[in-house]
Amino acid sequence: MSIVLGIETSCDETGISVVQDGAVILSNEVASQIAVHAPFGGVVPEIASRHHTEIISQLTELALSEAKASPTAIAATAGPGLMGSLMVGMNFAKALAYAWELPFVPVHHIEGHIFSAFLTDDPPTFPFLTLVVSGGHTCLIQCDRPHHYVILGSTRDDAVGECFDKAARLLGLPYPGGPSIQKASEGGDPKAVKLPRGMTNEDSLEFSYSGLKTAVLYAVRENQFELADMAASFQHAAVDVLLIKTKLALRQTGAPRLVVAGGVAANRLLRERLQAELDVPVHMPPMALCVDNGAMIAAAAESLLAHGLTQGFEAVPSPSLPLVRQIPGMGDKDKATTGGSRT
Ligand code: KG4
Ligand code: ZN
Repeated sequence: MSIVLGIETSCDETGISVVQDGAVILSNEVASQIAVHAPFGGVVPEIASRHHTEIISQLTELALSEAKASPTAIAATAGPGLMGSLMVGMNFAKALAYAWELPFVPVHHIEGHIFSAFLTDDPPTFPFLTLVVSGGHTCLIQCDRPHHYVILGSTRDDAVGECFDKAARLLGLPYPGGPSIQKASEGGDPKAVKLPRGMTNEDSLEFSYSGLKTAVLYAVRENQFELADMAASFQHAAVDVLLIKTKLALRQTGAPRLVVAGGVAANRLLRERLQAELDVPVHMPPMALCVDNGAMIAAAAESLLAHGLTQGFEAVPSPSLPLVRQIPGMGDKDKATTGGSRT
């Protein structure tokens, strides 16, 4: 039996979780810093790392005592993310692993998000296509076998979650923008404000969200809209792009199922439309596992250990860690990265 302690500190959530056999969550503690960063309209890196440092010890004690099980391995997010925040989680995890003479498993944050789908009653089987939608990443990844990733397309500029956050700020809505735009959109007319759907006329799986953000900026300057209409129009535009690109990727790859992961996967409209409009099974983690958490890191770590794919103590935190693993037979085409230093 494997019991992995998973530690996630790449951005503004301290997530500590204990997971059994990569599938059963024994405890899952998440301390969000949203209230601390909200007055600044976004995450302040210095403040984030300080808060991780203050809380990580007691949150770990809590997660371990709730789990009532002793870990057989310790895992932490190695990147991408904020350097100071990554260092707190990784060094803490390494110290524990060293003291308790356990394996230390560094995990890529996106790989963690993908593995959140395995923490459900209906885990996906390989092969599948993954749509990763978070504050730092928007990408479509082909996953044919465990830990083998082919990045089919990613964003050329802003990530979709980042676009939600920036648009909310322009509209005077609180951080994080995703939930506040979703709430503000209730009762709004999604056709009221005409907004662009970046790069959807092209037969490519690349994304672009900076045009949508700029269109919101111009509309705010003209100031001729109801907030609910603007929020609904924005949300539809952002989600339309995800639907269009995902459908194209499914057609191009013939993937038999879809996994959706990352904070924006908590969006109600996106979830409803994916279920309604795709003709393949869609695996979405419950909303609590869409945003950053330690359970997804523990689940990915368990599989990495099982496949003999872990770097161990020599790994160092990396703000722009690429989603690449040296697997025999892996071609250059596979060595794409998701880019970006936000998670
Ligand atoms: O995965 P995550 O917790 O952190 C990163 O890895 O970035 O994602 C955070 C992002 C934020 O941009 C937030 O606005 C967005 O997820 N988000 C949402 C919703 N809940 C969180 N976006 C749209 N609708 C939501 N309900
Ligand atoms: Zn994330």
